[in-house]
Amino acid sequence: MITTGVDIIKVDRIKKILDNKREAFYNKIFTEKEILYIQSKNNDPKTVATLFAAKEAISKALGTGIGKITWKDIEISHDKNGKPLVNLTQRTTYILNDLNINKFDISISHEEEFAVAFAIGYYSLTLEKEKKQINYFHSKKLIIKYNIIIYLI
Ligand SMILES: CC(C)(COP(=O)(O)OP(=O)(O)OC[C@H]1O[C@@H](n2cnc3c(N)ncnc32)[C@H](O)[C@@H]1OP(=O)(O)O)[C@@H](O)C(=O)NCCC(=O)NCCS
Repeated sequence: MITTGVDIIKVDRIKKILDNKREAFYNKIFTEKEILYIQSKNNDPKTVATLFAAKEAISKALGTGIGKITWKDIEISHDKNGKPLVNLTQRTTYILNDLNINKFDISISHEEEFAVAFAIGYYSLTLEKEKKQINYFHSKKLIIKYNIIIYLI
């Protein structure tokens, strides 16, 4: 089973923040490792925007948004080929355990104007838990069908 999250950011919005309050923004949003990566990319607003989008995408896949977990609970690092990887702090464990998530993947892309990130969390559930995940709702069609079945029986 998977859970997903996506986010899109205007690069210009990030560029304005970097022009006005770069240090404060970095310190609020990014881990040391991420800041080093951003600096290695000459503080490119597109890179900053994608890392920001990645955090929001993961927070959506977790279903929490940013708040219950903080920006710095989510870290994006990169493997030797440049592929982004997701690291999470221990503080997120209770959410991961609740959802049984055991792996995250993130995919990132940017153009001059927009940056996007798409996150996938992989999880397994027991049958009992899976049943609880289904949100049932009543539709007229379903009720009619149900009545017919009852009637036929
Ligand atoms: C969930 C969150 C990440 C949404 O991000 P956003 O950039 O504000 O909004 P987006 O347009 O990307 O996404 C909005 C959609 O996310 C979805 N969404 C809302 N809460 C969600 C949640 N907890 N989990 C998954 N998806 C959620 C909704 O479908 C929403 O669309 P809708 O309002 O039309 O129904 C947001 O709640 C959040 O935590 N943002 C942090 C904002 C912040 O602190 N900014 C300061 C910058 S320094």
